[in-house]
Amino acid sequence: MRKIGLLYWPKGGSVERSAEKIQGQLKDKNVVFKCIDEVQPNELLEFDSIIMGGSTVGADHWGNNENQNEWTFFFSELKKAETNLEGKEIALFGLGNQMLYPDHFADDIAVMRNELAKANATFVGNWPTEGYDFNHSDAVENDQFIGLVLDEDAQPELTDERISGWLKQINF
Ligand SMILES: Cc1cc2nc3c(=O)[nH]c(=O)nc-3n(C[C@H](O)[C@H](O)[C@H](O)COP(=O)(O)O)c2cc1C
Repeated sequence: MRKIGLLYWPKGGSVERSAEKIQGQLKDKNVVFKCIDEVQPNELLEFDSIIMGGSTVGADHWGNNENQNEWTFFFSELKKAETNLEGKEIALFGLGNQMLYPDHFADDIAVMRNELAKANATFVGNWPTEGYDFNHSDAVENDQFIGLVLDEDAQPELTDERISGWLKQINF
């Protein structure tokens, strides 16, 4: 059975809850569920496919918050380890708040994508922007989000169906 890595950070909030929901919907699959601060870069090579998620928090985004972010730390370790993710399919999800941060909605999915792209990963799981109300997101390319965007603050009632639609689409 294909081995799926389901990796997230931070703990204790909406990202962890959403990751648990994703895990719940993948219960018949071989899923390794871990917080990114427990993952060494080369462990990514054990997975056939990987789901990774985080939230956008910071003054505006991670760039303003670098030292406290386990994702930023992981990506610098990934670079040091020179892990080659060629052939690995990665699907990203990100939490944001479109009401309070309409100009930076879920921006940090783009940070994750850009860092993982440097390690030659392949990305799946684009998601439509319909049903969200925001001005700008770095996570939009060609009129779609580059991963699943969840808004547990403004649209918690849509999370379950967004997750199930997205998982059907990525078909891991
Ligand atoms: C200090 C702070 C800054 C935030 N900045 C953004 C932002 O720039 N863009 C955005 O979409 N959401 C932003 N948010 C909203 C969070 O991404 C959202 O609440 C998310 O669900 C938090 O997940 P967590 O509890 O797992 O960290 C921010 C939240 C906080 C507390």
